[in-house]
Amino acid sequence: MTRSRVTVFAPATIANVGPGFDALGLAIDRPGDKITATRTDKPGVTLQIRGSRAGLPKSPKDNVAVHVAQLMLSELAPKLGVKLELTKGMPVGSGLGSSAASSVAAVVAVNALLPRPLPRIDLLRFAVEGERKASGAPHADNVAPGLLGGVCLTRGGDPAEVVKLAAKDAFVWVVAHPHVVVKTATARKMLPRNVPLSLAARQWANVAGLVVGLVSGNATLVAHSCEDAIVEPVRAPLIPCFYGVKEAALAAGALGCSIAGSGPSMFAIVKLGGPVQRVARAMREAFRGEARLRCDIYVSRLNRDGARISGAARS
Ligand code: HSE
Repeated sequence: MTRSRVTVFAPATIANVGPGFDALGLAIDRPGDKITATRTDKPGVTLQIRGSRAGLPKSPKDNVAVHVAQLMLSELAPKLGVKLELTKGMPVGSGLGSSAASSVAAVVAVNALLPRPLPRIDLLRFAVEGERKASGAPHADNVAPGLLGGVCLTRGGDPAEVVKLAAKDAFVWVVAHPHVVVKTATARKMLPRNVPLSLAARQWANVAGLVVGLVSGNATLVAHSCEDAIVEPVRAPLIPCFYGVKEAALAAGALGCSIAGSGPSMFAIVKLGGPVQRVARAMREAFRGEARLRCDIYVSRLNRDGARISGAARS
């Protein structure tokens, strides 16, 4: 008996994690997207959107969930049809991996309807195509942790080589999402084409330090290494009062604070048992007081499993 209907939740993700541009990403518990996929006899993919459509493409064929589902079906089960119902829990253009959450939820849901589902890691190449469609760049640093959970290192390549780190559950992630929109495609166009060797050397030492710090739970090393010397200074002007919010988070006791993905959301890392609520309040107040911006706050431990199947029916 194969599944006839399945519901999947795919979580928000923090890409880059400071210095690891296009290389590091991690999953948090919320927000996220939910997709219910139902097998149909008519080949092809249809889409219904539940709740807000804000920021989504008007035509279903331009939706990343439809795009990746179609790619999967045409390669793996051309006679199968799928109806997708997307509940968009992720703000679009937030820097929290909105397109990745839709793509990941779609590939995990479609996979669960296949007669012979693929291992999770084999879904990466389809989910990455959603990122190519959304931003023009097939970066995997949101979709990898969305699929696999935890902290993932993406080495690049085609297909991307991904390693899930044995990260300690030693930190809490505070995310502030101010109510402005930044398009990843725009934020990528601003990036320098070349960087001085001295900056590159500082950055790769920081990436290595952050990886070791997250795996060993070494808060001091995490604090020293959560520094982005290359991308953050270029993208900071996209976020009203970025430096004010960052300073407020650090003054409140965060180990580090930077841009989540391409922004405008910002994340702060706090030691487990540390001043999580104080950091969250400081970020919210800095956005409100200095930039006159409202923001949503999400507080989460590491999401260790990534997308999860929350309901299924068989026939
Ligand atoms: N690594 C990507 C970027 C993540 O910074 O452009 C986008 O969410």
